[in-house]
Amino acid sequence: MIGSANLNIMVKAARKAGRSLVKDFREVENLQVSMKGAGDFVSKADLAAEKFLKEELLGARPTYGWLAEEGGGIDGQDPTRRWIVDPLDGTTNFLHGLPHWAISIGLEHKGQVVAGVVYDAAKDEMFFAEKGAGAWMNDTRLRVSGRSRMIESIFATGLPFGGRADLPETLKDLGRLLPTCAGVRRWGAAALDMAYVAAGRYDGFWERRLQPWDLAAGIVIVREAGGLVQPLDERRDILDEGAVICANQAIFDPFAKVIRG
Ligand code: IPD
Ligand code: CA
Ligand code: CA
Repeated sequence: MIGSANLNIMVKAARKAGRSLVKDFREVENLQVSMKGAGDFVSKADLAAEKFLKEELLGARPTYGWLAEEGGGIDGQDPTRRWIVDPLDGTTNFLHGLPHWAISIGLEHKGQVVAGVVYDAAKDEMFFAEKGAGAWMNDTRLRVSGRSRMIESIFATGLPFGGRADLPETLKDLGRLLPTCAGVRRWGAAALDMAYVAAGRYDGFWERRLQPWDLAAGIVIVREAGGLVQPLDERRDILDEGAVICANQAIFDPFAKVIRG
């Protein structure tokens, strides 16, 4: 793989963490039938993956800042650079033995994500991108889809669960979008949803109430694959806003019009 030293550090760390999570995932499949379930085991695997990634990434770049889902943030000596990490995106899938989850690592520089890695370890698909150097999945260059007709397009989203407050907005989105397109998918890992837009598997993706670690890596991967990524509310910063819309360039406007209402 040809990339910057930072990208190589990110890919190596994701691959190692992935190997260990795959072992845990096999164990989870065995735990499904137990009374206690796999919940505790999965939170331990999640925390262990984050600890490992922190040691690898901050070990290699000790002056950078850090933001991750489980352990929160640390200001770095270098205030311009920060790792943004979700050690396990798609936890609910992992817990239920569904092989659709990923490790997500973004590198932010002066408020912009400049490199991203999303590793689907169960399928050994490594999505990565660096600003100005294109987006890749393993050895294949990524390109967003060429579809320009809404009625032929498939979109992904996240559905609010467990009483989350954005249910009415999401139902409204679905009510407007479904009649215009070829389908909507909810596969349960936002970082992979974005990687799939970059790979042209989905034509677009939107979701509200995401966190920086869900989004960071995906932003640069979609952009480097030729797609558009915007905050749902254009006046806000995308990582602060946590509500995203992305798609190939041809479908972005009609899609955004439906979602933004
Ligand atoms: C979740 C997944 C899911 C999205 C949720 C996220 P987690 O992340 O990305 O697709 O709908 O909003 O919280 O909890 O599995 O890391
Ligand atoms: Ca996540
Ligand atoms: Ca997570």
